[in-house]
Amino acid sequence: MKFKFVCSPEVISGKGSFETLGEVAINLGGKNAFVVIDQVLSKTPLREKTEKILENHGIKCVIFDKISSEPTTDTGNEACALARKHNCDITIGIGGGSSLDTAKAVAGLIKNPGTIEDYQGIDKLKFPSVPKIMVPTTAGTGSEVTFTAVFIRASEKKKAGINSKYLYPEAAILDPLLTLSLPPSVTSSTGMDAFCHAIESYLSKKATFFSKPVSMEAMKLIWKNLPVAFSDGNNVEAREHMLYASFLAGVGLANAGVTAVHSLSYPLGGLFGVPHGVGNAVLLPFVLESTLPYIKNSIEEIAQSLTGEKMDATCFIKQLKNLEKSLGIPESLKNLDIPEDSIPVLIEGAMQVKVPLENHPVTLTEKDIEHIYQSAF
Ligand SMILES: [Fe+2]
Repeated sequence: MKFKFVCSPEVISGKGSFETLGEVAINLGGKNAFVVIDQVLSKTPLREKTEKILENHGIKCVIFDKISSEPTTDTGNEACALARKHNCDITIGIGGGSSLDTAKAVAGLIKNPGTIEDYQGIDKLKFPSVPKIMVPTTAGTGSEVTFTAVFIRASEKKKAGINSKYLYPEAAILDPLLTLSLPPSVTSSTGMDAFCHAIESYLSKKATFFSKPVSMEAMKLIWKNLPVAFSDGNNVEAREHMLYASFLAGVGLANAGVTAVHSLSYPLGGLFGVPHGVGNAVLLPFVLESTLPYIKNSIEEIAQSLTGEKMDATCFIKQLKNLEKSLGIPESLKNLDIPEDSIPVLIEGAMQVKVPLENHPVTLTEKDIEHIYQSAF
C-alpha cells in the first residue's frame, strides 16, 4: 500500500476550457508570459485568441512559434534566450509534446543559468522554475503532467530529456475543441504514444495500486475512442475522451514510469527522425511478445478489461496489431525505411535509456534487445 502520487496541481478540463487561460495565468502570478505555440497552430486564429485572452487579463506576452517537429537543443536554447531577454515570469505551452516540452524547459532555464544541454539528465536543475501552464492540442504525450522535457542534440543525433521535479507543470488546460483539427496520422501516432504510456506504466515495476487503475482506465478509453477520433476527427466526444485518456496515461507515466518500448524507440527518433508515437507503436507488440512469459497474466487482465472478453495474451497482441494496422501505423521497422544493418547502433542507443529499462518487468540483456529489433524488422 506504499505509494507516492504526483499530478499537476490544477487541471481544467472540458469543451471551451481554453477560455480560462488568463485567469489561470493571473492566479499563478504571471504578468509577462512566454508562449510556445506550435508552428502550424500559430497560423490559425488560436494565436490571436491567445494574445487576446492574455491581453484582456493585463498580461503581456512574447510568442515563440518555431516548433514544428521534435525540438532540437538549438531551438530550445533560442527560445530560452528570448524568454530571458524579455524577463518572462510564466510560460505557456500550446501544441503537441514538443511545444509543451519547450515551454517547460524554458520555465526551468529562466531561473537556471546555462543551456538545455547542461540540464539533460536527472535532477540537474538547481532552482525552481517559473510557473508553467500546459495546453495540449494532441492526445497525446501526457507532457502536461510529467516532469520531462525531451530535446534532440542535433550534433550527436541523440534524444535526451531534462528530468526534474521542477518541471511538473503548475496547471493543465484540457480543451477538446483544440484537438478537432488534428490530422488522422497525428491522431493515431500521438494516440498510440498515450496507449504506450498507459500499458507500459501498468506493467512497470514501479506501478502501484494507485497508478494501475489510472493506467487501465486510460487504455480502456483509448481502445474505444482512438479508432473513432481517427476516422471522424470532428467527433467531439471521442476527442474529449482521448484528451482525458492521454492525461490519465500521463499520470500513470509520471507515477510509474514507462518501460522498454520507450527505451528502444528513442534511438529511432534520434537517428532516423521517426516520430515518437510511431516508433513506440511499431515496437510495442514486439516488446510485449518478447516479454510475454513474465507479463502473461497482466496482459490477460488488460485484454478482459478492454474487450470485455476472456482471451489468451497472444490473441490480444494480435488484436493490438490489427488495431494499429487499422490506424495506419506501419507494421515493421522495414516499413519505416530503417536499414537492418543499423541494429547494433540502435541497441547501443537503447541501452543508454536506462530508467525505462530498469522499470521493465524483466531485465532485458543486449541479446534480448537485439532479438526485439530483429523481430520488428
Ligand atoms: Fe511517449
